[in-house]
Amino acid sequence: MISGLRTIWWEDGKVFMVDQNKLPWEFTFKVCSSVEEVAEAIKDMTIRGAPAIGAAAAMGLALAAYHCKAKKKEEMVKAVVKAAEVLRSTRPTARNLFWAIERVLKVLEMKEGVEEVRREVLMEALRIADEDVEVNRKIGETGVSILEDGDVVLTHCNAGALATVGYGTALAPIREAVKRGLRVKVIATETRPKLQGARLTALELKIEGIPVKVITDGMVGYVMREGMVNKVIVGADRVFKDGHVVNKVGTLTIAVVANHFNVPFYVAAPTSTFDLTLNVEDVTIEMRGREEVASIANFPILPSGVEALNPAFDVTPPYLVTGYITEKGILRPPFTL
Ligand code: MRU
Repeated sequence: MISGLRTIWWEDGKVFMVDQNKLPWEFTFKVCSSVEEVAEAIKDMTIRGAPAIGAAAAMGLALAAYHCKAKKKEEMVKAVVKAAEVLRSTRPTARNLFWAIERVLKVLEMKEGVEEVRREVLMEALRIADEDVEVNRKIGETGVSILEDGDVVLTHCNAGALATVGYGTALAPIREAVKRGLRVKVIATETRPKLQGARLTALELKIEGIPVKVITDGMVGYVMREGMVNKVIVGADRVFKDGHVVNKVGTLTIAVVANHFNVPFYVAAPTSTFDLTLNVEDVTIEMRGREEVASIANFPILPSGVEALNPAFDVTPPYLVTGYITEKGILRPPFTL
């Protein structure tokens, strides 16, 4: 059962993660022994999805503390703070990465001895990972209330088990519905350029026997106009206090089309994705390299010399969002949490 899969875990001073760049062709793991290796895995998207990269950052800090030879607390703090800087520079958009780092750094203020700090940094990282799975199950239990027997749900990118430590966010209500005997089907957008929908969402649902059809991103208007979709559920990388949602590029287009055809559009995310301090104008949208757009699954498609634009995320305004499915219920902005 992929819903029981863990994408990342700690074992004997090493961090293991499912290599998502190799899926669905190969099921392999990357083993990281240093914060630099974890940072590289986040950057090159070996591990991806907002909650999963949050957990990875926390475990990166745990590696820094675990392997630090410091004899004094101040030296240990220095090493972990430096590791936090390395991790902060990996991907700028998902709130969970920064949330997890802040949470682990708080432990440094509370603990005194070197051994205690080393142990507690690791314990906090493991708690972040465990809590993520619990929170996602609650998102499933909350979100199932919007689903009815026979629904066809459109989802974008991968906000499933692979994007989290386990169970997923946008796919959680669907999993819960199927568990309760509702016949729910999924339409998954392929999600150019990295194909998270085609490679990862389709794989997760196929393994669980949940019916899924993949469409190219340009087919969203067609399936909505034909009445083939009853609901949209997507994940989020950052949700602002006023309800603006940052998620995988293409989400805005889907929200506009859903609004045009009166299809309810839901965002499913843990409260660790919510940013109550910054405003949407402050968000940094990650810009990735030309090569991702210039090829499909490593096959070149652009004439040489042609430029490409590759923003990884876009911003959906709150008036297009029907509800925000969280572990604390279905919320409406402005959020206080
Ligand atoms: O670039 P990615 O694959 O990390 O982007 C992932 C998404 O945009 C997801 O929808 C989001 O992180 C939510 S995952 C539960």
